[in-house]
Amino acid sequence: MEILDLRHFSSVDLRPLLDDETQVWSRLLSWDYSGSADMILRYVDAKILPGYAAVDRGRVFGYSFFVYEGSKGVIGDLYVTNGNRLPDARQVELRLLTHVIETLQQSPGIHRVEAQLLAHEANAVSRPFLDTGFQRHPRLFMLLALGGRSPERVSMHPDVEIRPWAEGDYQPSAAVITAAYRGHVDAQINDQYNTLSGSLRFLNNIVRFPGCGVFDADSSFVALDRKAKGLIGLILCSRVRNDVGHVTQVCVLPEYRSRRIGESLMAATVGSLRRRNFSLLSLTVTEANARAVALYRRLSFDTKRIFDAFVWLG
Ligand SMILES: CC(C)(COP(=O)(O)OP(=O)(O)OC[C@H]1O[C@@H](n2cnc3c(N)ncnc32)[C@H](O)[C@@H]1OP(=O)(O)O)[C@@H](O)C(=O)NCCC(=O)NCCS
Repeated sequence: MEILDLRHFSSVDLRPLLDDETQVWSRLLSWDYSGSADMILRYVDAKILPGYAAVDRGRVFGYSFFVYEGSKGVIGDLYVTNGNRLPDARQVELRLLTHVIETLQQSPGIHRVEAQLLAHEANAVSRPFLDTGFQRHPRLFMLLALGGRSPERVSMHPDVEIRPWAEGDYQPSAAVITAAYRGHVDAQINDQYNTLSGSLRFLNNIVRFPGCGVFDADSSFVALDRKAKGLIGLILCSRVRNDVGHVTQVCVLPEYRSRRIGESLMAATVGSLRRRNFSLLSLTVTEANARAVALYRRLSFDTKRIFDAFVWLG
């Protein structure tokens, strides 16, 4: 078995592996990974995706890639066929990660590395991260079945209005995100939340690019203070499978919390998805974010998996 630069390979070499991974994502996360797989393969063919492939007798059976975003490196994916079952496949995952981490940490100008490995159980591949100075943040993947009864109407303050997301909401939403995550553990995991320009980039990625599913404007809403006429909260939802929604963002300004605005935003999203016969709604939340976890539990979300987010500051 050899570990080689991903840029030596083409989509023909990687297609079977990504088809396999697509099935795993469907089983574990109810997520249609085929759009992401196609995008990855296009980058592989363009020879612009940095990463490593695990190769045995000419066959690629594992890979990991990363991307550079300014002074940050983001580990995009790690997959080895049967990685969750065969002990030696786990060793291959660890070797791939060791190469990726080493490359990123030695890249000139890279001062931060982030990774979120949704399809890997917490701690399963943490060793190479912890050995090289990463912080680990356990996160929950939660799922709500939408087949049940409709949520009761949530009574909110009469001065608060919830309306569908509109194109003009970008700037005020970025301001709400930046304020909502000030000093928050999620701003350690995703440093885009720390600045207005970063929050705008985050929004742009979610709304315009199909990396994290396809943005679903119909199930995305904002909360407004009627009197102050300002945006005070938002929920964004993407379609990750034909019948599955995924909350990519929900936040409320600190001074408006505990007034059931978060719950009302969730209810608006759930209502829209139910009306359109979606069967599931998923989200991810940092375990340490106790208030948010409590809110989702109360709304009947179940924890399906615990995975890790890793952050390294150089
Ligand atoms: C998570 C977040 C969106 C919740 O927003 P919120 O408007 O405060 O949420 P709600 O008021 O609907 O619900 C939370 C609070 O109301 C209470 N509440 C809500 N529904 C209730 C119900 N049906 N019965 C009793 N209490 C209820 C909860 O107990 C909780 O109370 P607390 O403030 O004492 O903890 C908000 O805290 C936030 O923006 N956090 C920062 C960003 C973030 O963490 N986002 C989630 C990332 S996954």
